[in-house]
Amino acid sequence: MKQKIRVWDLPIRLFHWALALCVILGIIFVKIGGNAMQWHAYCGYIALALVLFRIIWGFLGSWHSRFANFIPTPKRLIAYLRGGMGDSLGHNPLGALSVIAILLAVLIQASTGLFADDDIFFQGPFAKYVSNATVAFLTSMHRFNQYIIMALVALHIGAILFYQFYKKESLVAPMITGDKNGEEAFGGTAPPEPIDTGKQRLVALTIFIAVGLGLYYLIN
Ligand code: HEM
Ligand code: HEM
Repeated sequence: MKQKIRVWDLPIRLFHWALALCVILGIIFVKIGGNAMQWHAYCGYIALALVLFRIIWGFLGSWHSRFANFIPTPKRLIAYLRGGMGDSLGHNPLGALSVIAILLAVLIQASTGLFADDDIFFQGPFAKYVSNATVAFLTSMHRFNQYIIMALVALHIGAILFYQFYKKESLVAPMITGDKNGEEAFGGTAPPEPIDTGKQRLVALTIFIAVGLGLYYLIN
């Protein structure tokens, strides 16, 4: 019997759309330049807090959020690529790799930004603590890595369109509502624990506030 199964907890969904918004707005603000650089920095700080939260949530979060439950072994990845695996409730093995790549790329982008300098009037809050050579190096990394992020996001959206129009499966709706239509025991892999409970949401909020306060303290 087909039934709705909660896959993405509310913290993951909020994390996702907030991260997408921060990265897109951050790029728009940097292209505007001038006073908008301050807003570029704010978007970057929030993106950094979100990714740090996501890394912790990858250990403490609900079933499909935990790295251990979606980072594939080489064997699973090959089985998936050969088409020998059915649908998966959480990230599929290939999608999982792209998730890790995006998280890493945004982590690098936001951290190098803290040391970057535009040689006009704006610099990241940590640039003053390191040598000019380090600032120059991290700024060029910050400039280069933008293309990696853009390529990964293009691939990300391409994959979602492929699922939508070729495989006729919407991945976007579950990232909004949290639910997928699945078999009662999805290939025997339905998670053995409740997903998206009130307690989990409270833990997530506490982690995010702690990360946010920690960053605020460091940056100021
Ligand atoms: C606006 C267009 C976007 C759409 C429609 C979209 C949609 C989605 C969907 C449907 C998933 C779940 C994929 C799955 O089922 O395995 C997902 C995951 C993800 N997306 Fe996006 N996305 C968008 C933009 C972005 C951007 C701009 C970023 C960041 C640069 C991003 C980062 C991620 C990450 C990190 C995940 C993994 C979620 C997790 O488990 O933490 N997305 N996205
Ligand atoms: C996810 C977060 C971030 C993204 C996606 C991002 C993206 C970008 C992009 C696309 C550029 C333009 C590079 C160019 O072509 O010239 C840029 C420049 C810059 N960003 Fe970020 N950034 C992020 C976070 C930050 C943070 C947290 C700071 C510091 C508070 C920062 C400070 C700067 C500075 C100073 C520049 C100018 C560097 C130059 O002159 O090339 N960024 N960033």
